[in-house]
Amino acid sequence: MDTIMGGSKSIEFGADLIKKGEIVAFPTETVYGLGASAYNEDAVKKIFIAKGRPQDNPLIVHISSPIDAIEIAKEIPDEAYVLWEMFSPGPLTLVLNKKSIIPDIVTAGYQTVGIRIPNNEIALSLISKSGLPLAAPSANLSGRVSPTEAIHVYKDLNGRIPLIIDGGRCNIGIESTVLDLTKNTPTILRPGFISPEQIAERIGNVINHKGDIVRVESPGMKYSHYMPICPCVSALTTGSACELYDKNENAVILGTNSFIESCGNRAVVSLGDTPDDCMKNIFKALRDSEESFSYIIVESFKDKHGYFALNNRLSKATKGITY
Ligand code: TXA
Ligand code: MG
Repeated sequence: MDTIMGGSKSIEFGADLIKKGEIVAFPTETVYGLGASAYNEDAVKKIFIAKGRPQDNPLIVHISSPIDAIEIAKEIPDEAYVLWEMFSPGPLTLVLNKKSIIPDIVTAGYQTVGIRIPNNEIALSLISKSGLPLAAPSANLSGRVSPTEAIHVYKDLNGRIPLIIDGGRCNIGIESTVLDLTKNTPTILRPGFISPEQIAERIGNVINHKGDIVRVESPGMKYSHYMPICPCVSALTTGSACELYDKNENAVILGTNSFIESCGNRAVVSLGDTPDDCMKNIFKALRDSEESFSYIIVESFKDKHGYFALNNRLSKATKGITY
């Protein structure tokens, strides 16, 4: 598995590859990313090819400090600095008006660019060492579950990319919140680890992803995402989870400890106790389960406080099928 490398040598090697116009998978605190120089159109093309990603879905540009944003975004509003002060480095992507130095392929033709400062030493050092902003989507095949370990990237992309930098398991395990600051009212395009309330607390007036005001979605949200390779459904109660389990061969139940406690001797996977636990564990649990089981039943977190982002991902993994 020599595509997977760890340690400081791997970062040097990765930075060299990026400078030469290659693509490199690297860890962030949310999920693994597949990065290329955001200034290099040909390099960015390789990302779309390796992932099989639709060309109309824009990429997030990763930088190591708010200062780097000045080179790629124009008309940066005060709100951006307020939010960076609070949440950077961290799992928040700000959509700003782009400068022409960012080629259209990165932003899928949009005149805006999503910018994020990842809270991960390896990612930050890869950006600094290459001296370039990195355009990077999650490092999975398009439509598949996002990778939270190097081995997940390997399974999807081995043979398609020259290097996977192994930084262990991602701390957060769910993607960044995408917030559009080019609208009259800041608008959440993709819910993520940082909640609308946390953002509103700093800058006021945020339109939630499910807000009443006309909703502007991240283009990426319309594609099928996070789908395991076997059927996956959600269950509102332990009772319905057990019923589904008994009706399907080789099934497994994923849920919080209190949910799986009363599943008898059926196969279960714990997602932990809290929303943070569940976000950290969900993608790994889905990936592990699809390898050993042929039917996945996940606890439904619909309308449960604190689980909005998780529920958003699960509604895609389950195609909205809830029992
Ligand atoms: O945590 C994350 O955000 C991870 C890590 C690797 O940083 N990245 C990630 O990238 O999830 P990706 O490509 O899988 O998802 C990016 C999302 C998509 O839904 C895309 O449509 C949206 O961000 N997006 C990016 N740039 C945008 C823009 N200029 N306008 C609107 N939406 C944008
Ligand atoms: Mg993705």
